[in-house]
Amino acid sequence: MKLAIPKERLDGESRVAASIETVKKLTALGLQVTVEAGAGAGASISDALYREAGADIAASAAEALKDADIVFKVRAPTDEELGMMKRGAMLAAILNPYDDKARFQKYAAAGVNAFAMELMPRISRAQSMDVLSSQSNLAGYKAVINAAAAFTRAMPMMMTAAGTIAPARVFIMGVGVAGLQAIATAKRLGAIVSATDVRSATKEQVESLGGTFVMVESEESGDAAGGYAKEMSDDYKRAQAALVAEHIKKQDIVITTALIPGRPAPELVSEEMVKTMKPGSILVDLAVERGGNCPLSEAGKRVTKHGVTLIGDLNVAGQLAVDASSLYAKNLLNFITPMIDKETRALAINWDDETITGTCLTRDGQIVHPSLREGGN
Ligand code: NAI
Repeated sequence: MKLAIPKERLDGESRVAASIETVKKLTALGLQVTVEAGAGAGASISDALYREAGADIAASAAEALKDADIVFKVRAPTDEELGMMKRGAMLAAILNPYDDKARFQKYAAAGVNAFAMELMPRISRAQSMDVLSSQSNLAGYKAVINAAAAFTRAMPMMMTAAGTIAPARVFIMGVGVAGLQAIATAKRLGAIVSATDVRSATKEQVESLGGTFVMVESEESGDAAGGYAKEMSDDYKRAQAALVAEHIKKQDIVITTALIPGRPAPELVSEEMVKTMKPGSILVDLAVERGGNCPLSEAGKRVTKHGVTLIGDLNVAGQLAVDASSLYAKNLLNFITPMIDKETRALAINWDDETITGTCLTRDGQIVHPSLREGGN
């Protein structure tokens, strides 16, 4: 069976869907792995290294994709790539199903069985396949590093002969995977860290990392299925805004990570709040891809407004292409391994398995995922 790893085509996407380690393991599973020439360049993996690990190198996407039974990608394939895939091929990638619903008709028409890795159900067994976690963890770390680099003061307290430098105050909004890593990173850099979330379970997590939890006094819980957050009532939002407005004035760095699956990111920091922040403060909006937690942040840009630098970098995990690729490739390996029959070495997908029903968008020419059907979310 042939497994293809084409080069990513989206501008600025430096990740790749296979690492040296995963090529070795995929080959050991009996797959013939074909990598498009140059696919690993952004993640510092040369064609020679892939070849050494057991892969064939294809000169073009067409050559890589020709007759491939399985295709691993980071991003959704272009129409051109889709056209090169054979009917019945399996595709696993980050497919952006909520924003890109119309595209899936094309996958179905092409007869491609597409799996959106970001829809992996949050069950213990699937943790090692969870691309949102593996990538958000890196994004949370890098958000703090980027903020520290743009900040014109030091992060830790420094007592010097010439005077004492106060530690920076860092406020993390949204304590999921990215937020938790941001807290840990800011602590390691010596900042005074506080954080907030709508899910009550996060209080203990923040405190165990040495942060202070900023809590909205409310009976309402933000917990939704699968560990995700739900959209909060208007009353809650008002109480949260008042609390945040008071807290944010004293912060040097604010990192927002709040998301609600399938919906625009909630607005957590208004323009009025930004105006009250100290000049030279930094706001990193990790939710900018889904509209942002602050209306002033701009996707893909770093801008200064009301004296505050707003960092709206896209694909923050991709800025750490080596680690992001390595973890993402491992997620894919863990996903495919149970599907390969040990004896025949052919694809034997258990279509009833939760990891399959949760991620499969199209199958045998049909759109099958409930969230993509009429009225789905
Ligand atoms: P996410 O990226 O979907 O959202 C980030 C955070 O923002 C969440 O903690 C959410 O509660 C919070 N948020 C949403 N709206 C907010 C608002 N209005 N104000 C403040 N905060 C708000 O979250 P992520 O990183 O995907 O994690 C969500 C949960 O899922 C976590 O508890 C995590 O530990 C759990 N999880 C479980 C996995 C598994 O069991 N396989 C794998 C990964 C995460």
